[in-house]
Amino acid sequence: MKSKEDFIYRAEKADKEDILKHFRSYFRTDEKLIYFDGNSLGMMPLKSEQVALYLISHQWGERLIRGWNDNWWDMPIRVSQKISILIGCDSDEVIVCDSTSVNLYKLVSAALNIQKGRKKIISDDLNFPSDLYVIQGIINNLDEGHILDLVESANGIDIEYNKLFQKIDNNTAVVVLSYVSFRSAFMYDMKKVTEYAHSHGALVIWDLSHATGAVNIDLGSSDADMAVGCTYKYLNGGPGSPAFLYVNRKIQDSVVSPIWAWLGEKNPFEFSLDYRASVGARKYMTGSPNILSLCTLEPSLDILIEAGMDNIRAKSLSLASFLLELYHAFLEPLGFCLGSPERESERGSHISLKHEEGYRICKALIDDKLGNYVIIPDFRPPDNIRLGFAPLYNRFDEVYRAVLEIENIVKERLYESYDLKADSVT
Ligand SMILES: Cc1ncc(COP(=O)(O)O)c(C=O)c1O
Repeated sequence: MKSKEDFIYRAEKADKEDILKHFRSYFRTDEKLIYFDGNSLGMMPLKSEQVALYLISHQWGERLIRGWNDNWWDMPIRVSQKISILIGCDSDEVIVCDSTSVNLYKLVSAALNIQKGRKKIISDDLNFPSDLYVIQGIINNLDEGHILDLVESANGIDIEYNKLFQKIDNNTAVVVLSYVSFRSAFMYDMKKVTEYAHSHGALVIWDLSHATGAVNIDLGSSDADMAVGCTYKYLNGGPGSPAFLYVNRKIQDSVVSPIWAWLGEKNPFEFSLDYRASVGARKYMTGSPNILSLCTLEPSLDILIEAGMDNIRAKSLSLASFLLELYHAFLEPLGFCLGSPERESERGSHISLKHEEGYRICKALIDDKLGNYVIIPDFRPPDNIRLGFAPLYNRFDEVYRAVLEIENIVKERLYESYDLKADSVT
């Protein structure tokens, strides 16, 4: 068995040799804080703070309405273009706007509209519940006999492709899946699923929330039909920053947005009384863009593009495999189980460790009065401690320290002094 000294040595060496190490200085960090929650809310780029302060004090405070012509009006288009680089599509196939849930509502509604006569919507029970609520709401509103058919995961970690494929048939309108699952980080083979769905005339909508900025995404070569995703996780846009949506150029002309609003109109400032859809993904815009959040998002996109998704993914996998080694050596013997796929090609950028005391262990990790570091993972019921790796700022020594701290909390039963009362956000 490898000793703790051996792991320390390897962590130090990996951090020293890390080609992305300088990117950590682009973010507001704290040496006493080990942050493994970039898969929920990414850390703040220092540049975002600067541009937000400038926007508030100068652009809004002094320039007022003139700000729209200075650089606000084109901001959604500029930001969308940067997102397109990260998800492998053309810039006019993606638009940043609204929330993920609202964008999913638009795309599922639009997909059902061009798939008239087909009544099945397929998803899985690993999907983010809000996505399922959105679909349930659409079915309820339409009242046209659609059904949502969920593939069940046998282990709560992954989905067997044959089970999914058995459900897709000529009555399937659309398949709606998270590319990377929020709980286990299971990652689908996008191309394989899309090809199978297409062979039965079904469309596929991918939720990229846990994938964008974390794994390589190539919507173009996968021939994906539609996608949505958020920007506050690995894209570090800040709390509540706007989401994005993608519609493949091949189907853009036949897909109609269910919300016709002025920002999606061809020329909003002509104030035409009749709606004329804008071209490309822009037509899915609805109301005024959230300029404050777009301005905090943009610097982070520049950082991700500069670092390169291949480098980011390579480091994410190294951090995860280091964690897995530590998990097998120190945590598995204490009763932890792995809640994520072991195989790299099937995993996004977080690892879930399952323990029946997971919630109280998380509370102990976060407690600033315990241990030398505040360690922030997050918790997903029933028992998942999620450790998200954001390679732009996470280090190998943080992985090592977090595992040691978890080991100590469990061995010494320190979690017992925390209650089970849940905070609003876990
Ligand atoms: C996979 C996934 N889809 C959708 C959502 C909902 O996003 P929004 O709050 O932007 O609607 C989340 C939120 O965390 C998510 O993780």
